[in-house]
Amino acid sequence: MRIAVGSDHAGYRLKQHLAARLAEAGEDVLDLGAKSEESCDYPDYGRAVGAAVASGQADWGLVICGTGLGISMAANRLPGVRAARCTSEYDARFARAHNDANVLALGSRVSGVGLAEAIVETFRSTAFEGGRHQRRVAKIDAPAAADGGAPAPGSER
Ligand code: RB5
Repeated sequence: MRIAVGSDHAGYRLKQHLAARLAEAGEDVLDLGAKSEESCDYPDYGRAVGAAVASGQADWGLVICGTGLGISMAANRLPGVRAARCTSEYDARFARAHNDANVLALGSRVSGVGLAEAIVETFRSTAFEGGRHQRRVAKIDAPAAADGGAPAPGSER
């Protein structure tokens, strides 16, 4: 599997650690930065990983900032990206099994290294269940009007 990884300065160390673990496990890791702990902006890296997943360049993505929140929001702006910020193995299991999440977001200031490793492993090894969940995931990815409904005819985005 090709896995795109990205972080801001706050997530840099954890990204380096998890990217090395994934490479050791035989995954093809595409590191999209940051390249150091110098202060930077998490949307740049969330978008870069989201774009790699949206374009098919990567099978899934791993994004890390201090909380995992901002960088997941940025990744989720890319079409077809379903980024899930997970703080437990339970989150990771159902993000994959029910939501077919294709980007895992972690908070380096929230989850310690051991928990982060376990979350990544659960995310990596859990398959989407499909079935009734497929219909719901399709609704996540469908265009929405500002009021939350389907777009009016002729206004599709
Ligand atoms: C950086 O201090 C912090 O705001 C960022 O890593 C992240 O937590 C944002 O959501």
